[in-house]
Amino acid sequence: MTDFLDIHTTDQSDLQAMIAQARAMKDARAGFHKGMPDAETPLAGHMVALIFEKPSTRTRVSFDVGVRQMGGQTMVLSGNDMQLGHGETIADTARVLSRYVDLIMIRTFEETTLLEMAEHATVPVINGLTNRTHPCQIMADVMTFEEHRGPIKGKKVVWTGDGNNVCASFLHAAGQFGFDLVFAGPPTLDPEREFIEGARSKGVNVEIIRNPEEAVKGADLVVADTWVSMHDSQTTKERRHNQLRPYQVNEALMAHAKPDALFMHCLPAHREEEATSAVMDGPNSVIFDEAENRLHAQKAIMRWCLGV
Ligand code: CP
Ligand code: NVA
Repeated sequence: MTDFLDIHTTDQSDLQAMIAQARAMKDARAGFHKGMPDAETPLAGHMVALIFEKPSTRTRVSFDVGVRQMGGQTMVLSGNDMQLGHGETIADTARVLSRYVDLIMIRTFEETTLLEMAEHATVPVINGLTNRTHPCQIMADVMTFEEHRGPIKGKKVVWTGDGNNVCASFLHAAGQFGFDLVFAGPPTLDPEREFIEGARSKGVNVEIIRNPEEAVKGADLVVADTWVSMHDSQTTKERRHNQLRPYQVNEALMAHAKPDALFMHCLPAHREEEATSAVMDGPNSVIFDEAENRLHAQKAIMRWCLGV
């Protein structure tokens, strides 16, 4: 039984094995209807709780469908509808849920909520996004890059915009999968030093380049995300937009990257803000492959957690 809390706290060879298994499971479903179970159903008899304290489309649907394809059952819980949202402690919630379910996935605000859940649950806990990180997304993104371009090791990834939770997990992945990362954004929205230093300590090159055109030069992958995350106060929106506008990913900016550079966005996107539709719907965009691969990558993550 193992928690999947973050990419940097998960063994490198286990991460690689999960990506390989995700690809194999994806291939094995070729021609299947979405609701058909996999040929093997390793989650048969398993009950999975999916807890959301923030909105979600992809995480919610991909986990739910993934569990069912593997023969398990799910319950989707909204934090607000649980006693958790009305003062019951996280520790007690974790102990109680562990009596009913075999696996817990939680999307929450504070990282401490996730860690407390993991500490007190006696079943595995998966991080479905916190204010600080979003590891399931980046597992899908690494899988997607490798499907299109081969090994991500040694490649140059450029993160544009806000140094947010998704950026943090990209930095974790840089260290674990061995790719270089350039952060292109304003100084007020830099990723936390801990994430940058963590990746550097694993021997990869992490640079901060303020000029977006210079930053994307030679990029194999350019990544954008929303300028205002779910945990950010709406009162910061105008200031953020003003600071981030120069970092919009449009065709002019992509022209400075390698000609075959991929474009990624975890979605949901605000079209014509952080990225233009011309790029999002352009030939090098793999945004819907990323969304699909959430399903396959998370199925491998769940199997790893449960050891099945
Ligand atoms: N990318 C992602 O996690 O999307 P949702 O917020 O829709 O789950
Ligand atoms: N950075 C975004 C990611 C959404 C999937 C947020 O936290 O809102």
